[in-house]
This record gives sequence, C-alpha cells and structure tokens, in this order.
Amino acid sequence: MLAARCHTYGLPDVVEIEEIPDPVAGEGQVVVDVAAAAVNFPDVLLLADKYQISVPLPFIPGSELAGTVRSLGPGVTALAIGDRVMGASMVGAFAQQIALPETSLMPVPDSVELDVAAAAGVAHRTAYHALRTMGGVSPGDHVVVLGAAGGVGLAAVELALVLGAHVTAVASSESKRALCLAKGAHTAVDSASPDLKEQLRSATDGGSDVVVDPVGGPYAEEALRAMHWGGRFVSVGFASGEIPRIPLNLVLLKGVHVTGFTMAGIAANQPAETARDNAELAELLAAGTVVPHVSARYPLAQTALALADLAERRATGKVLVLPYA
Ligand SMILES: NC(=O)c1ccc[n+]([C@@H]2O[C@H](COP(=O)([O-])OP(=O)(O)OC[C@H]3O[C@@H](n4cnc5c(N)ncnc54)[C@H](OP(=O)(O)O)[C@@H]3O)[C@@H](O)[C@H]2O)c1
Repeated sequence: MLAARCHTYGLPDVVEIEEIPDPVAGEGQVVVDVAAAAVNFPDVLLLADKYQISVPLPFIPGSELAGTVRSLGPGVTALAIGDRVMGASMVGAFAQQIALPETSLMPVPDSVELDVAAAAGVAHRTAYHALRTMGGVSPGDHVVVLGAAGGVGLAAVELALVLGAHVTAVASSESKRALCLAKGAHTAVDSASPDLKEQLRSATDGGSDVVVDPVGGPYAEEALRAMHWGGRFVSVGFASGEIPRIPLNLVLLKGVHVTGFTMAGIAANQPAETARDNAELAELLAAGTVVPHVSARYPLAQTALALADLAERRATGKVLVLPYA
C-alpha cells in the first residue's frame, strides 16, 4: 500500500510517500481501507515532536479516518468485511490501509458519506463536549468561540447554534470571519483588535456566558475579561503555541469557572456524559443537522500540503487526505 511516512521530525515537508507492506489485522483488530483521513492540529505537533507524547520514527501521521473494513483479525465479533466505519488513532491514518482494534471504530450511518464522517469526528466531538458538558450551554447563552474558523472552532460555532446560543466568532482574517457569519454566527470579531475585550463585551450584550478556546495565547485573557459573573471558560487547546497564564484575581473577581479537558480524559472520567454527547452528536450528523465544512481535499501524494494548511493557518473547517484519490 501507499502511505505518507516521516523518517525525521520537522515541518510538514518531511513527509514522504512510500510503498510499504499492507498491514495485517492482529487479535481483535480489523484492517480498514481508508476513504478519507482528516487533519487535526495535533498531527502537526506530533510531526514536529512538540506534542504531549513523542512517537518513535519512522511513523505514518494521521489520527482520524473513515473507510471500509477490508479484513478481520482473529476474535473480531462486532464488525464484518465491507462495514463502513470511522475512528481515531494516535497515528497511521494517512495511508491506504490501517489496522485498528475493532473497539476503536464506530459504524458510519448509511445517510452519512465517508468523507463527512472523517471530517466530523475529533473536532466535532471536542467542540460538543466543550459546549454541552463543560460549558453547560443553554438556549440564549452568549457563546464566544476563539479560532472560530478552525476545525474545532467552526464545529463549535455550528454546534453552539444547534444548542440555541448567540454565537460570537473570533478569527484573524476577513475571509475567516465571513465564513463564520455564513455558517450562522451572529457576530464576528477580529482577534487582532486592540480593544478585543470591549468588542467582545459589546457583541455579547455586556459579557459572555461561555468561551470555547482552542487557541490560547493573548486572546484567552481578553476573552475571560469580557465574561460576566458565573461564566464558564473552556480551554480546549493552544494552537497559538502559547499557554496563557491567567491571573487568578480575575477568576475571583468575576466568579468565572475555568475548565478544560482532553478527549481521553473526559472519556475515562466522565463516561456517562461522553456517551450522551457522542450519541447526541451522532444523531445530529445522521440527520444532516450538522454538516462539517471541508475547505480542502488532497490526494495522499499531497499530504504535506494538507498538514501545511493547518501549520500555516490557512485551513478553515476541516482538511481531508483521500488516500485512493
Ligand atoms: N482538548 C482536546 O481533546 C482537543 C481535541 C482536538 C483538538 N485540540 C486542540 O485544539 C486546537 C485546535 O485544533 P484544530 O484541529 O481545530 O486546529 P486548526 O483547525 O488549525 O484551528 C486552529 C485555529 O487557531 C488559530 N491560530 C492562532 N494562532 C495560530 C498559530 N500560530 N498556528 C495555527 N493556528 C493558529 C487559527 O485561527 P485564526 O487564524 O483565526 O487565529 C486556526 O484557525 C489545537 O491546539 C489542538 O491540539 C484539543
């Protein structure tokens, strides 16, 4: 099979396309023909060896996919050859085939195309947990989304609207803000505004109820300062590369709840909420209520370009790699 592999850590252009042996399904595993793999920001960090964990070289990047079951290993009981599945893995998705435990895969409903399924996994689950379980968003709440045109950000915009919130999207360019407004955000604010805090206050009728922050950096404190008493600030990631240090007096003075999560952490520690959120999200996707925005689709040969779209801040919504295109 063909796979995108890296033999050295670095920028996206370290990725090479190679012919390597097909994977073989081990005990409890299946091999999936990858129809589409979505790019997520951690893929860029893993490639640069700047993620929370280090993956030994050489490795195939790619952490999220949808496709069709090609073969079954011993002991597989829940899946059959030809089943349409989606799943996540630390690495390995930017390849024509991947071997994964059957327990890490979920069926893709008939009404959902495989590329839509790949685009609606990690980002949408992250955004929905942030809003539903961590943010406790109720209809009419003012929700501010930082990095609102990115993968997690645009999913948060879409899903906050589904939850009945008034959404303020924060993004760095005119075209990114226009996309957020086209997706239904009520207001869009320039993240580079020198008076970001004031702009957010006026966009949210005096103060927001919930902030979803996948960016960090200097924007986080401004967004927190523009919350009202009792608001929920949900930290999701640090795409800016800078982990903000929030002065605790702000939290004290404003009665704000600051929280955050990782997908693995919430799954292990709040299994009931995770199951509920995943089931609600699956219904929204199957019904077509939520349709992820895909800004670019690349063949496997251009995996480096797909990764560079995120690394260089060009991507909006999701970017896909199509290994058989
Ligand atoms: N907690 C979890 O379980 C979880 C799950 C998934 C992702 N994450 C994290 O969430 C963050 C966003 O992931 P994503 O896949 O949505 O990424 P993405 O699609 O690349 O979006 C990130 C956004 O951050 C903004 N940004 C600001 N400074 C940036 C910089 N120096 N480089 C790149 N982007 C920058 C960009 O918006 P502007 O240009 O408008 O500023 C961009 O749209 C990442 O830190 C990721 O690790 C966490």
